[in-house]
Amino acid sequence: MDIILLIIFAYLLGSIPSALWIGKLFYKTDVRQHGSGNLGATNTFRVLGKTAGLIVTIIDILKGTAAVLLVSLPYFSSTGMHPLFLGIVAVIGHMLPIFAGFKGGKAVATSGGVLLGYNWPIFIIVLLTFLIALKITKMVSLSSMIVALVGFLYCIIYYVWTGDFYLMIVVGLMGIFIFYRHRANIGRIKAGTEPKVKWL
Ligand code: G3P
Repeated sequence: MDIILLIIFAYLLGSIPSALWIGKLFYKTDVRQHGSGNLGATNTFRVLGKTAGLIVTIIDILKGTAAVLLVSLPYFSSTGMHPLFLGIVAVIGHMLPIFAGFKGGKAVATSGGVLLGYNWPIFIIVLLTFLIALKITKMVSLSSMIVALVGFLYCIIYYVWTGDFYLMIVVGLMGIFIFYRHRANIGRIKAGTEPKVKWL
């Protein structure tokens, strides 16, 4: 029973559509009607500006972090559930949120949050990789896919070093989610029409 409760909590955490709620509550704007239409931090930056974008980024990251940390709560510590499993559930919640008609974001920030909660040094390395990719490409979508791939390579090396098999598998799975959710972006990148960030 506790295991089912944990999974439901992790899914509900991931389901919080921060971009939708912040937009509607403070800006009277539904970000799904503007920009790329995506319920994510990038589209919030694009449509509502830096403050809203930053808040959504932080909330979406913390959703993944909180899900991973659920098993550390004394009540759930006896379940023996692997924290990364809950992380994946939160990422699925972020992509298919019950509070927003099962149409959510592209898994990037919440996957980052899973790493932050599980292994913060790897999160920092992955974040730096993302920022370098963004500086070079100026495209959040392309940088997200680059980091999904490179992050998986880091975790293969980490697996060889420490034997953390689950991290490698979960990061690989999150990478597949990220690529799958960026199908439209891949088309735009190929066509040369993907928007670039102007403030870098
Ligand atoms: O995190 C999502 C980002 O990589 C792309 O978002 O709105 O440009 O499709 P968007």
